[in-house]
Amino acid sequence: MAKSRICELVGIRYPIIQAPMNWVSGAGLAAAVSNAGGLGTLGPNAGADSITADVELTGERLREQIKKVKSLTRAPFAVNVPIGVGDAMKYSKKCVEVVIEEAVPVVITSVGGPNVYTKTLQSAGIKVFHAVSTPKHAKKSEAVGVDAVVCEGFEAGGHKGFTELTTMVLTPMVADAVKIPVITGGGICDGRGVLAALALGADAVYLGTRFMVTQESESHQNVKEAIVRAEDVCTVSVPKDFMLARDLSNTFTREYLEMRRSGTSAEALSVFLADHSQYPGQHLGDADNAEICCGQVAGLIGDVPAAAEVINDIIKNLFSVLEEVKQKLADFQCR
Ligand SMILES: Cc1cc2nc3c(=O)[nH]c(=O)nc-3n(C[C@H](O)[C@H](O)[C@H](O)COP(=O)(O)O)c2cc1C
Repeated sequence: MAKSRICELVGIRYPIIQAPMNWVSGAGLAAAVSNAGGLGTLGPNAGADSITADVELTGERLREQIKKVKSLTRAPFAVNVPIGVGDAMKYSKKCVEVVIEEAVPVVITSVGGPNVYTKTLQSAGIKVFHAVSTPKHAKKSEAVGVDAVVCEGFEAGGHKGFTELTTMVLTPMVADAVKIPVITGGGICDGRGVLAALALGADAVYLGTRFMVTQESESHQNVKEAIVRAEDVCTVSVPKDFMLARDLSNTFTREYLEMRRSGTSAEALSVFLADHSQYPGQHLGDADNAEICCGQVAGLIGDVPAAAEVINDIIKNLFSVLEEVKQKLADFQCR
C-alpha cells in the first residue's frame, strides 16, 4: 500500500508533526506526540527552567531532553536546531554535535541557510527538514539536498521572516516549486485544516499552537488558560530587528508596539524585549506582561486535551470532513 511520503521517510504513522516551540515543547510533549503516531519535536529551550548563555550547558540540556524522549518512546522524534548567524552559531554547532552523538532520527533546521548543517547531519544518518518562508528558499533547500521543506504561513505563531504569505498561498507555491516532500504549518488545528493543507499540495502538517495548549506541553497553565479564553482576533504581528513574531495580543504587545510608534531607541526596545521575553511568559506564567508566541488559530482553540486526543480527533474528523467536501462537490454544479 502506498504511504504518505513523510511517513515513509521517517517511519511514523500519521503525517502530523508537532512543530518546535522554544520553552514549550519538551520531552513529555514530543514523546506523547510520537507515541500517538505523529512526529514530536524538541524545541531549543526544551525542558529548561532558566535562561542560559552557556554553550556547554545548552548542549547538555538538549542531551538530557533527548535521553528523556528516548526513555518515553521508541518512536521517531525530531529536534529543532535554529542555525543563527555570527557568534550565535556557537549554540547551533554544539547542538549539532549533540544530536549526532545521540543519533536523533530527524533534525528541523530553521533561522539560517539550508547549506550550513545539512550534509553533516545527513552523513550521520539524520533526516533533515528545513524551514522556509518563500518558494525560492524552498528551491534552494532542495538544491542543497534537504529531505523535506517546512513552510510556515503568516498566520503561524512564533518568529519568521518578513514575508507575509499566508498558508493558503504559500503552500501551493512551495508544492509547485519543489519535488521533495512539503510540510506546511500556520493556522492548522483540526481535521478541516489538515484536509485543506493536503488539498493545497502538502504531504504533512506542522502544528504549533494546537500542541502548545495540551496537557503535556510545558507552557504555563496561565498561558494555556489565556489561549482558551482568547477570542477571534487575539494575535498581533510584532516586528523586531530581523524578523516578525506573531504573539497573543496583551499588555506587552500594546506597550512594545507603542514604544516602536513613538520612536523609542533600538537599544531601549531590545532591553524591553529581553525583560518581557517568552521565559517570563511561557515559563513563569505572566500571560499579560510578557511575550506569548501563538498563532491566529488560538481563536479556534477552546480546550486543553492530551496530545494524543488532538491527533485522534484529527484522524477521526478528517474523514467526516472529506465526506462533507465530497457532498459539496457533488452539489457543486447547480445547473
Ligand atoms: C510558543 C511558540 C514558540 C515557537 N518557537 C519556535 C522555535 O523555537 N523554533 C521554530 O523553528 N519555530 C518556533 N515556533 C513556530 C512553530 O514551530 C510553527 O511554525 C508554528 O507554531 C505553526 O503555526 P501554528 O502556531 O499556527 O500552528 C514557535 C511557535 C510558538 C507558538
